Amino acid sequence: MRKLLFLLLLASAAAFAQKFDGLAPTPPMGWNSWNTFAGNINEQLIKGVADAMIANGMQKAGYTYIVIDDCWESKTRDSAGNIVPDPAKFPGGLKALGDYLHAKGFKFGIHNCAGTETCAGFPGGRGHEYQDARSYASWGVDYLKYDWCNHGTANAEETYKTMRDALHAAGRPVVFSLCEWGNNKPWLWAENIGHLWRTTGDIRDCYDCQGVYDMGWKVILDKQVGLEKYAGPDHWNDPDMLEVGNRGLSRGEAEAHFSLWCILAAPLMAGNDVRNMTPEVRGILTNGEVIAIDQDPLGKEGFRFIENPGKEIWAKELSHGEWAVCLLNAGDNKMEMHVNWSYLSFLKGTYAVRDIWNRKDIGTTKEDFIRVIPPHSVVLFRLTPAP
Ligand code: GLA
Repeated sequence: MRKLLFLLLLASAAAFAQKFDGLAPTPPMGWNSWNTFAGNINEQLIKGVADAMIANGMQKAGYTYIVIDDCWESKTRDSAGNIVPDPAKFPGGLKALGDYLHAKGFKFGIHNCAGTETCAGFPGGRGHEYQDARSYASWGVDYLKYDWCNHGTANAEETYKTMRDALHAAGRPVVFSLCEWGNNKPWLWAENIGHLWRTTGDIRDCYDCQGVYDMGWKVILDKQVGLEKYAGPDHWNDPDMLEVGNRGLSRGEAEAHFSLWCILAAPLMAGNDVRNMTPEVRGILTNGEVIAIDQDPLGKEGFRFIENPGKEIWAKELSHGEWAVCLLNAGDNKMEMHVNWSYLSFLKGTYAVRDIWNRKDIGTTKEDFIRVIPPHSVVLFRLTPAP
């Protein structure tokens, strides 16, 4: 009897303190305001983005979450301590905006911070976690990105657990996106706290530039090596949002960035102005064959198999014995890459080879692959076991 009571107590404690399971069986996809708009956000922009994503095929391609990043808040909480949106930017309030997004078939995401203030200086959640989680639930929020600025001496794991518990107590299922920049190795402790966690500082729209807090996608890519074993359904490494379609990337760099984020099973949060995209950019972001690699139900993150000076081979295991393989010319000059498939020791037997970006079946792994690849660009393959 005592044992039963103990088990019951244990079960109820577990039921209380947990994340909402099953919300991210594959990496979340959507759009986030930060990379392009930073603080220049408002109701019209968000509605316009939603409308555009329906018209341009992004919603159909799987981009579901529309996330308002930093700067949506009023500078101060109201007299009851509630976090409130800036009435000039969001005159209709966030409940109405959430309703708009839901009516259009999207899910509604929002950003705030585990510290006392967000990185842009708006009220943070520290000490208000339960109250804020109730506000988010009342607005219909489905996704919370929770930042790490101004955290003082707080312990990351405990702080994020508090918000996880607050979200759970508020009762509305919310994808919890930890944005702690990898400072405290969240891949070691966040699996039961959130559905995704940032692994690095911020991305910038360049190939390999390096700032104090931000960096190009290639710098971020290198930092993912070895983290693949920590990711899986409902708990993803997040190498930050996409810069596809932003000024600093060439077409080849944008394709490569997108391909490798899919190899990484990264959350695919577009960060460009999707209302004004070139056909090229739209073609990259909505390429269903590339997205299918990211969203493969096996849920395995890919890994770097070979790194020779300037040449890299990345691979991702897919369901049904298939593989995605990505050749990256990481150098600054065009380069001939030669692949003898038998060196890829993870392959078993013969596969049919599809060149995804060229939408062409190009033979089998019995023949070597040789091609000149432009700088900072990729060739992306899907390998299917040959009968
Ligand atoms: C941090 C995050 C970014 C963005 C900004 C907003 O830098 O890492 O993704 O949310 O804050 O201020």
